[in-house]
Amino acid sequence: MQRLFNAKTLTTTGSLLLNKSITTTSITSFKPVASSFSRYYSSVGGYESVFTALDTFPRRHIGPNEDEVKSMLAKITTSKQSSQKVESLDQLIDFTIPKSIRLNRTLDIDGNHVKGEHQLLQELKEVAKKNKIFRSFIVPFVIQRNILENPGWYTPYTPYQAEISQGRLESLLNFQTMVGDMTGLPMANASLLDEATAAAEAVSMCVNISKNKKALAFLVDSKCHPQTIDTIRLRAEPKGIRIEVTDSDKFDYSRGDVVGVLVQYPATDGSLVDYRHLAKKAHEHDALVVCATDLLSLALLTPPGEWGADIALGNSQRFGVPLGFGGPHAAFFSTSQKYSRLLPGRIIGVSKDSAGSQAYRMALQTREQHIRREKATSNICTSQALLANMTAMYAVYHGPHGVKAIASNVHKKTVILAAGLQRLGFEIANHHYFDTIKVVTGDRTQALLKELENRSINVRRVCAQSISISLDETVTLRDLQLLFEAFAAVSKKTEAILFTPESLEKELITNKKETAIPAHLIRKTEFLTHPVFNRYHSEHELLRYIHRLQKKDLGLTTAMIPLGSCTMKLNATAEMYPVSWPEFNSIHPFVPSDQTVGYREMFDSISRSLCEITGFAAASLQPNAGSQGEYAGLMVIREYLRSINQSHRDICLIPVSAHGTNPASAVMTGMKVVVVACDQFGNVDQADLRAKAEKHKDNLAALMITYPSTHGVFEEGAKEMCAMIHGYGGQVYMDGANMNAQVGLCRPGDIGADVCHLNLHKTFCIPHGGGGPGMGPICVASHLAPFLPVHSVVKEHVGGEHGIGAVSAAPWGSSSILPITYVYLQLMNGVGLKRATQVAILSANYMAARLKDHYKILYTGSHGLVAHEFIIDLRPFKETAGIEAEDVAKRLQDYGFHGPTMSWPVTNTLMIEPTESESKYELDRLVDALISIRQEIADIESGKADKLNNILVHAPHTEKVITSDKWDRPYTRQQAAYPTQATRESKFWPSVGRVDNVFGDRNLQCSCPAVSSYQE
Ligand SMILES: Cc1ncc(COP(=O)(O)O)c(C=O)c1O
Repeated sequence: MQRLFNAKTLTTTGSLLLNKSITTTSITSFKPVASSFSRYYSSVGGYESVFTALDTFPRRHIGPNEDEVKSMLAKITTSKQSSQKVESLDQLIDFTIPKSIRLNRTLDIDGNHVKGEHQLLQELKEVAKKNKIFRSFIVPFVIQRNILENPGWYTPYTPYQAEISQGRLESLLNFQTMVGDMTGLPMANASLLDEATAAAEAVSMCVNISKNKKALAFLVDSKCHPQTIDTIRLRAEPKGIRIEVTDSDKFDYSRGDVVGVLVQYPATDGSLVDYRHLAKKAHEHDALVVCATDLLSLALLTPPGEWGADIALGNSQRFGVPLGFGGPHAAFFSTSQKYSRLLPGRIIGVSKDSAGSQAYRMALQTREQHIRREKATSNICTSQALLANMTAMYAVYHGPHGVKAIASNVHKKTVILAAGLQRLGFEIANHHYFDTIKVVTGDRTQALLKELENRSINVRRVCAQSISISLDETVTLRDLQLLFEAFAAVSKKTEAILFTPESLEKELITNKKETAIPAHLIRKTEFLTHPVFNRYHSEHELLRYIHRLQKKDLGLTTAMIPLGSCTMKLNATAEMYPVSWPEFNSIHPFVPSDQTVGYREMFDSISRSLCEITGFAAASLQPNAGSQGEYAGLMVIREYLRSINQSHRDICLIPVSAHGTNPASAVMTGMKVVVVACDQFGNVDQADLRAKAEKHKDNLAALMITYPSTHGVFEEGAKEMCAMIHGYGGQVYMDGANMNAQVGLCRPGDIGADVCHLNLHKTFCIPHGGGGPGMGPICVASHLAPFLPVHSVVKEHVGGEHGIGAVSAAPWGSSSILPITYVYLQLMNGVGLKRATQVAILSANYMAARLKDHYKILYTGSHGLVAHEFIIDLRPFKETAGIEAEDVAKRLQDYGFHGPTMSWPVTNTLMIEPTESESKYELDRLVDALISIRQEIADIESGKADKLNNILVHAPHTEKVITSDKWDRPYTRQQAAYPTQATRESKFWPSVGRVDNVFGDRNLQCSCPAVSSYQE
């Protein structure tokens, strides 16, 4: 049942309905006059009291100070006709955002208390302590400190600019190689969002591969994880795929409609089954075999690829990533070479650069949703790059022998546990297992659970009659003793425990009974044989390897990353700090709810704030990326339409300018995409929208719009568009990727949308991690709240009463990165958030004003101003100088910058988004670089430089090229590598020359190349 809350009740739900009459908890912190912009928000301003915090945050988060804001404003004038100076931030916003949608009050973020960084973290620590830690997990310290907690690794973006991303590309290639080796299926991608959604992707892939397009049944073994079964069920239904869950020995192919089967190895209850026969039979019936598995177990077990599986997938958390109450973790996915082009998600491949040297890149990028849109094989965009990198480094650090030793250690401890429990009179249901045993506990189950709880041990209650226990390498002698004590306390054998874990170990060795893996399932093949997994086993070596890779990558630690639509703002240290706290990162997602009170308190606060920011009634924190938010939001709409007997409505209108994930997600929900045109100003073509809505009025399900538009303008008439769609019986989905231009100034709910997702990894400070993790929660209007995602394992406090099902493996998605957003919201509060948005819009307009005499600014609003991002048009230069957007982006690397978003949403343009966090100094540096590059283009136009042999087409310039003995270019080395004073003071070198994309796709290689290939 959905309950109503007010802010005073620190409620316990990830999905929450907001009571508009917000009251606040009594916190003894200073409360400023909400509308004033005191020194707490900027570096100058009025003095309040000596007892208020000095370490306030907004002035750290927002780059330009008061004086800089003034001088930036002075540069901006409105459109040519009126040509009016802009005097203040408020006036700028008046000119930018239509009055009809403006929010005329300050957002209320839990009472808008002003807190310093230290005070807030102390308070959050108190909240975190309400979570109970029963276990801790091993992340090698060298990886935790130097990757997870290192901005050099967590602040870069997805490696779209390969030349300045070679470090993480190499590490992601290690990840793919490691997954390929462990699973015995060589073609792996560089991570999916979680195991359950990876399984759903596998189902879609089987359907795409199947020649029999009418065959739409997919069989699932009942011993798969329940959350996996749930997620694939939900994903399959709109596509008309029938998921049949049954015991694998009863799989029935006789109807000829089975496209694939899913088994889990080891199964959810820990049992080990030999699936060779199953695979043979499935293949005889043209069905593919999908295997969910555990990487660590595969160090000991025959890998799925060797017994006939076509696809292997799973969660790589066991390889050195914290549990984090469910995430983020990198899911892996591998298959055979023949299906390489159907693999979902991002794939890293090997290619060559302009000098013919080996270089890494994202392969098959043309499959990205930007290009394939509704024909995309998957809607995955952001994945789990940072976690995949941690996992890869775990394999690099431990190597094949280390990984095997850890796996053997875990397995032997489990065998000792099983032997001890049998001595105490308990039956072990699975004879063959790796690290998990199912114990028949009968009528003693409840009593046993109490005994275990008293000893701070969590186990899984399988049913009223049995439990299962999983061990890992952190389990100690004492842990096993405690387990034995708990079982002995409820054992019918009353005598004292006459053995110890050590005595059992000796006995098992003597009797040669140390393993519970049958001989025919023991792995015989080698793995992790590449030198990279055999070279860096001392900490010094690993540390230097991590650092060597890091130095190749341009992150926010080097320069601004002006990627339009990506909002690369500050990822503050105070925000990142709690992510490493054990109270947040050492908790299993399925522990009893009384152990996670602190987490839910934080979820409630975030949900409340996001509802206030969006103007909606309820939120779900389950979707773990923007793409998943889109899918979840559209599924919620679909379910709502069903509830009002409108299930026939299946048309989704999507403007041509939309991000590719929009149509890809719509198709996943079974909707048909109808594309709406944009006019010459980049706005949705209202006439076309009306015509299409009218044409499809009987079947209209939804309109998906991005606001402000992907063209960087607050288009007029957004309210009218929403009203029109409602008039035709449809719902409005707002893609909140551009929310950084709305927070505190206008709200999707007020504009008339029904649902929106928020990319917390953009607007709300979760770092991009070099391609993930992210979080894509959705906020919905009250009529959609009952349909918010639920979870079959964690039923309390999640979702609506008629919830659609699960969209992620974990009930609250990637929970352990939510403290980042929480800290941001609390430190900024309503006043700071509004200021941040104003400055984001100011920064874009300031840059556009400085650049407009050099480049054409493609789209502007009615006053000639842009929103938080803008597009510069490079199309004319193709004709005049043979120069394209890619040349400018690559040349920017020589100036020490990451290029803006290239050729999206308009081909051969660059989309620039500066964010509020960049100082005027940094904005000017980028503007100066772009102006200087414009001069380089002008030199080609005037004939001063050659059209085919010039500084732009040869960009970027590597250190190797610049320092080579031979130099035959028609420009100097200085001009190439040190074009500005800033580059002379601090030079960032692209580590390879321009990467050849076509070569890489034609010669697809997606695992670590042989060592010989590194030789010149
Ligand atoms: C406008 C827009 N919508 C949706 C997305 C997808 O978000 P995610 O990458 O988190 O899946 C993006 C990502 O860049 C985007 O820019």
